[in-house]
Amino acid sequence: PKMKYVVNESCIGCGLCATTCPEVFSMTDAGVAAAIAEEVAEENRGSAAEARENCPVGAIEEV
Ligand code: F3S
Repeated sequence: PKMKYVVNESCIGCGLCATTCPEVFSMTDAGVAAAIAEEVAEENRGSAAEARENCPVGAIEEV
């Protein structure tokens, strides 16, 4: 199955996702997170899912 993530406007910039899964999430100059536009590679799916689950404000959505 395909898997992608987006970070919505709820992000408060805590940075946890970028620490947990830097292959998928990074911090922008605006101080919030962004997810890579591409499909998440197989080997990064576990850590990306963990990042989504642990975001304190639920800003990471699976699309
Ligand atoms: Fe933002 Fe949640 Fe990541 S608050 S920086 S999307 S862990």
